[in-house]
Amino acid sequence: MKQLRVGIVGCGEVTQIMHLPSLNQLPEQFTVTALCDVSEHVLQAVGDQWRVPKRHHDYRDLVALHDVDAVLIANPDAYHAEVALAAIAAGKHVLIEKPMCITLGEADAISAAQERAGVTVQVGYMRRYAPAFVEACRQLPELGDIRLARVHDVLGRNALVVNGTSRVVRGDDVPADVIAAGQRLRDERITEAIGEAPAELRGAYGLLLGLSSHDLSAMRELLGMPQRVLYAAQRQGGLYLSGAFDYGTYVCQFETGIDNIARFDAYLEVYGNERVLRVQYDTPYVRNLPIRWHVTMANGQDGVIERAESPTWGDAFVAEWQAFYANVVEQRIAKTPPTDFRRDLELFRDMIALMRI
Ligand SMILES: NC(=O)c1ccc[n+]([C@@H]2O[C@H](COP(=O)([O-])OP(=O)(O)OC[C@H]3O[C@@H](n4cnc5c(N)ncnc54)[C@H](O)[C@@H]3O)[C@@H](O)[C@H]2O)c1
Repeated sequence: MKQLRVGIVGCGEVTQIMHLPSLNQLPEQFTVTALCDVSEHVLQAVGDQWRVPKRHHDYRDLVALHDVDAVLIANPDAYHAEVALAAIAAGKHVLIEKPMCITLGEADAISAAQERAGVTVQVGYMRRYAPAFVEACRQLPELGDIRLARVHDVLGRNALVVNGTSRVVRGDDVPADVIAAGQRLRDERITEAIGEAPAELRGAYGLLLGLSSHDLSAMRELLGMPQRVLYAAQRQGGLYLSGAFDYGTYVCQFETGIDNIARFDAYLEVYGNERVLRVQYDTPYVRNLPIRWHVTMANGQDGVIERAESPTWGDAFVAEWQAFYANVVEQRIAKTPPTDFRRDLELFRDMIALMRI
């Protein structure tokens, strides 16, 4: 058993609440040797708390370190592609938070670099590594012909959960020009991805990248790639999205939105003639909340059987890291590689095109 030495780029909310505790839970597989953040305050506070020896402001210094085997990319999404390309070029394995990137060009560049280098690049779609989701994929054929499917994700603003459950160190020491450059870069990438578009469509694209990427990539793993997007619409400045995907013999409905109610209601649901299968997710910000699968089925006597299981108390982020470890040491392609993420960007592009109508 080889311990992988991890360097982390971006030490904000997701790193502090989810990744560092998950890595800490897997000491035989991982040790964190280096951190990078543009905020000196965040870098030092997180470094001290987790006793990480090497600390850098520039990701180029981190990816060059000899005692880093794998890089977690968890800084803002506009930077993901350039950090991934630098890490891959330095021969590092990469776990990259969603969205992997913003444009198709960036996705293709990451895929090509990964194939050339032969390293593991895994997109951080932890919901797809949750045992309840894996079990739902296994059970899907038991539904017989699918008649309908639904992807639902309506939740309260993250802060409603995070503020009451975690202490997150944040930096107000990042120079204004660095923040402005990051915003400019993101604006440029979004324009490159969807062309000139009003604010609400740009907002919708941001929501697709940030939240719906989880839902729609899980939909693709469970049901396959849809034939096409039937319709897509945004409302409320891009904060609420609806759509429908054509799977030939059935339609998958999609709906998402963010409000001010501190709850997390996210599920995938698939309807057969005598059986309905559902995977229900809870907030990732409270660790180890069980992810469940439910089945509702005919009992053969005009009655109903309902079954539910949380296969484990284990956190989906831990499952994601365990899969990453196996992929690296067994030199396997992750089930969420860069080419898989590209399919999400293709769907988002088609959805935005329909939202213009
Ligand atoms: N898998 C999930 O469920 C999940 C949940 C939350 C966030 N995320 C993803 O994780 C990423 C980070 O999100 P977050 O909520 O932690 O954001 P955040 O804003 O809390 O943290 C980002 C950190 O990156 C730092 N940073 C900014 N620019 C940088 C740069 N150029 N180089 C190095 N560090 C830089 C910031 O100072 C900050 O500490 C995003 O891609 C987000 O979509 C995933």
